[in-house]
Amino acid sequence: MPALGPEGRESMKITMHRWSIGAALALLIAAGCGSGSTSTTTEPGAAGTTGTTPAPSDKKLVVGFSQIGAESAWRTANTESIKSEAAARGIDLKFSDAQQKQDNQIKSIKTFIAQKVDYIAFSPVVETGWGPVLQEAKAAGIPVIVSDRRPDVPEDLYVTFIGADFIKEGEMAAEWLAKKTGGKAVIAELTGTPGSAPANDRKKGFENILAKNPGMKIAFSQTGEFTRAKGKEVMEALLKTPKGAEINVLFAHNDDMALGAIQAIEEAGKKPGKDILVVSIDGVKDAFVAMTEGKLNCTVECNPLLGPPLFDAIEKIRKGETLPKRTIIPDGVFDEAVAAKELPNRKY
Ligand code: AHR
Repeated sequence: MPALGPEGRESMKITMHRWSIGAALALLIAAGCGSGSTSTTTEPGAAGTTGTTPAPSDKKLVVGFSQIGAESAWRTANTESIKSEAAARGIDLKFSDAQQKQDNQIKSIKTFIAQKVDYIAFSPVVETGWGPVLQEAKAAGIPVIVSDRRPDVPEDLYVTFIGADFIKEGEMAAEWLAKKTGGKAVIAELTGTPGSAPANDRKKGFENILAKNPGMKIAFSQTGEFTRAKGKEVMEALLKTPKGAEINVLFAHNDDMALGAIQAIEEAGKKPGKDILVVSIDGVKDAFVAMTEGKLNCTVECNPLLGPPLFDAIEKIRKGETLPKRTIIPDGVFDEAVAAKELPNRKY
């Protein structure tokens, strides 16, 4: 176990105050660094193994991360950011893919607790139902960092949240649309995963602005589950109905659903971006390509590169620093006018 100087002892007092003594000892034992490694599993509850146990001084920091799945290009970029940043910092990352199921995430978190990882991080697929498992993590003295989506739990059950302001994103999408259409629009909305923070909040934010623009109405709203395939399927079905003929705007809660819907619009003999304006959220590369082709009109960025701020936060917790409850990663709005210039700069 490394010796502590006065600064370190002060940090430990803070840490021990916030978490159990057992957790603080675990943090000390985990203070050494080495080269990075990632164990990945898609098996619910099997959160990876560390292999042979190294001597305490060589022991790497062990972080368990429960990911939602691989539903979108955004999610793929998010996973890559977390894995590559852990490897660059020599962290032993136990990565678990929940395949969109909350039960799988709960099982993984329980496995991380049983494995006595140093930290747990996760992106909750839905907002509710996390209280009991986060209580378990707290009782075990393992600090929890929430990434991307927030859970609806008391704030003492996690150390910090790092992600976007989804309400603001919905507002920015609607503000752009109000300007573009002069406040007149018949809108089809493709919502994200039911019960998820981005689906709930983006809808809320969008509707906040619609409330000030009585000429803009949501005529249709259905989930496309944040996937390209479902976005296409729902739009295809809509365009076959009389309501589909009235729609002149599509608001999709993410780019993947918008890109799937664009295909359906084209197959129905209409021009996406012209007959039906398309606005979505994420800012992935394919959305910029679609904007340069005139098929998508606007995307609101939601930055998935959360690996660096996540592991920065863990470093700060280790040093005993107090973190804000929320760190919001700022977003931007990109439309067809800037797409070609911006495309070469896109990192995901
Ligand atoms: O939680 C972030 C959202 O989840 C992204 O907007 C979406 O693409 C993803 O699946």
